[in-house]
Amino acid sequence: MGTVTVLGSYNLGVTFAVEALPVWGQTLLSRHSFFSHGGKGSNQAVTAARFGAAVRFVGAVGQDAAGISAREMLLHEGIDVSQLVMVPDEPTGIGTIFLDDNGHNAIVVHPGANARLRVDTILQYQRDWPTDTVLLAQLEIPFDTVRTGFAQHSGIRILNPAPADASYAQESWDWVDILTPNETEARILCGLTPDDPVTSSDLLQLMAGRTHGKTIVLTLGAEGALIWHQGQNIRIPAVSVKAVDTTGAGDIFNGVFAAELAHGESLPQAAYKACVGASLSVRWPGVIPAIPSVDEVERTLQGGHQN
Ligand code: ATP
Ligand code: RIB
Repeated sequence: MGTVTVLGSYNLGVTFAVEALPVWGQTLLSRHSFFSHGGKGSNQAVTAARFGAAVRFVGAVGQDAAGISAREMLLHEGIDVSQLVMVPDEPTGIGTIFLDDNGHNAIVVHPGANARLRVDTILQYQRDWPTDTVLLAQLEIPFDTVRTGFAQHSGIRILNPAPADASYAQESWDWVDILTPNETEARILCGLTPDDPVTSSDLLQLMAGRTHGKTIVLTLGAEGALIWHQGQNIRIPAVSVKAVDTTGAGDIFNGVFAAELAHGESLPQAAYKACVGASLSVRWPGVIPAIPSVDEVERTLQGGHQN
């Protein structure tokens, strides 16, 4: 069984379904709302575990009800939580998600305990990581912590650079093997505005040029993904579905992708399966409840998909 080590965040999620975002000073009543387990790291860890990888989650939560519940959920998913720090004096991270009728979202995260996952903790923890584990991280925890975890690792290192920040545009990324931005993140990392009208193929070339030959997996929502790998462009299609909630589609993509690489799958095949998994997920509300089963993904890959 392949192993995946996820270095990342856990956030308690609260989603509000609204017709449109409120303007400053406005109070809105939402159509419905729900609490959920979230955070990019935790979502990706759960997905990788559901897709058959032995997963360890390295993260930080508060010593509060949300933190205890997070730990129980991860354990229930069969995930190793021996390197989950429970921080005494910070609350568990929280994400507020506004979801509109088209399945689009806007999210505000308060990192809380996630911000306390320190470099010295990682230096100590990484001694226990298998040398060939697929290492997967995002940027809802401190940047230096991620870089430290990746720097000496000899297995595959995947960074989902989300959320992206303009200050990372100067980064060399020489400590990463594969970057998996969405288009907004890629524009920010290339020093462009988040809504720059650059085409996706030009954006891919820009990212490839800036990262000096790293593999880039650029996710394109309903358009699937574009990959730059060993000097070649590869286009991966999405599955055509009716999107109800795209929250966490990128997380499900990354979780399946990492699990498949850990199983020894080729990069294009892993990305293809990840695209199918993420596409099937957007048909349902939430993130973890929307993760499709391995069987459904396999059936879809074999041509049995129905909307
Ligand atoms: P999020 O921030 O919502 O987690 P993301 O912006 O990081 O997602 P996207 O590029 O939007 O990531 O989507 C990731 C993958 O999810 C796509 O490559 C595709 O496979 C799938 N996907 C997303 N939206 C749709 C859609 N409307 N229809 C079909 N597939 C979709
Ligand atoms: O990618 C979606 C996730 O981002 C949500 O679960 C939210 O908590 C934020 O971390």
